[in-house]
Amino acid sequence: MAYAAFRSIGAYVPSKILTNAELAVMVDTSDEWITKRTGIKERRISAKNETTSDMGVKAAKKAIERSGVDVGEIDMIICATISPDYFCMPSTATIISNKLGLANVTAFDISAACTGFVYILSIAKAFIESGMKKNILIIGAEKLSAITDYTDRGTCILFGDGAGAAIISATDNKEEAIIDIHTGADGTFADLLMTPNGGSGSMHDSLDREAAGCFMQMKGNETFKVAVRTLTKDVIEILQENKIDSSDVKHFIPHQANLRIIKAVGDALKFKDDQVVLTVAKFGNTSGASIPMAINDIYEEGKLKYGELMLLDAFGGGLTWGSALVPFSPLK
Ligand code: COA
Repeated sequence: MAYAAFRSIGAYVPSKILTNAELAVMVDTSDEWITKRTGIKERRISAKNETTSDMGVKAAKKAIERSGVDVGEIDMIICATISPDYFCMPSTATIISNKLGLANVTAFDISAACTGFVYILSIAKAFIESGMKKNILIIGAEKLSAITDYTDRGTCILFGDGAGAAIISATDNKEEAIIDIHTGADGTFADLLMTPNGGSGSMHDSLDREAAGCFMQMKGNETFKVAVRTLTKDVIEILQENKIDSSDVKHFIPHQANLRIIKAVGDALKFKDDQVVLTVAKFGNTSGASIPMAINDIYEEGKLKYGELMLLDAFGGGLTWGSALVPFSPLK
């Protein structure tokens, strides 16, 4: 049987920084309020003509370069995004495949909001274990600034842009294998986080995105409570089922939504500070890109080494959630 190994990581962050002070000029808020309630100090915003696929390609190139896998050996590309280049088609994954010069791969997007990266990791694992694919490029990429309402202080302080990518490859070595991935969803909470209009559920003639209600809306307070509950429960279950103690986890890498959520979950699970990876202060919430951007952060800081166990933990709109026990397994 083939196992799925997490071979490499890469990320891209746009150079433009949007600070809390700049947001305080745009809406009625303050650096103090944002820092206290979310832990976010700044977020990155892509250039006007920079698309989600542009960012995804830059992250992908780094992941490919670090993987030891030739670009031509990639047989599948999956992109997790809620801010695709085009609303319906073509998928961002196919645009990325073209920009990478790959003409004959399986390529598609999935929509699971901030849990997107854990979802695509689970899909890659399944395709590799089934023997159907050998080298899969997974990408979380978001231009959330395109769907953020910069007059709504309840959401615009949270979100940023960026991309992260990883290569997942087949291996015979069980020691290198992704151990387990849990994913779930509960549509009864669908209205907590949504872009209410613009889809087939509510067609609009208007091309004015603001008037058409194409921006994200969120019930922040309710989302917060569900997030803490879901993230904690999911990790307890995946650790118990795999008989792994939280002290065996080298890097706990939660979705970077809000420092208070991460702290509440980290404390409930008794993780020490040096186990918990934090990028929320500098990148804000980049939805499906947040976890691979965080993995890349510790990789580039030299903190992520061969064989170290990562525990990924995400939740997002839908609601969706997921967790994954993943040893870092670059080719030696
Ligand atoms: N600046 C200043 N005041 C703000 C504000 C802002 N940016 N946003 C909201 N407020 C105000 C509210 O209007 C409210 O005022 P009121 O008491 O006069 O009515 C007060 O702050 C408290 O609002 P509340 O929504 O209860 O704040 P909160 O502590 O829950 O923080 C969030 C708001 C959005 C930061 C927080 O709920 C959150 O992070 N939720 C989770 C969001 C999330 O993770 N989403 C992504 C899921 S993947």
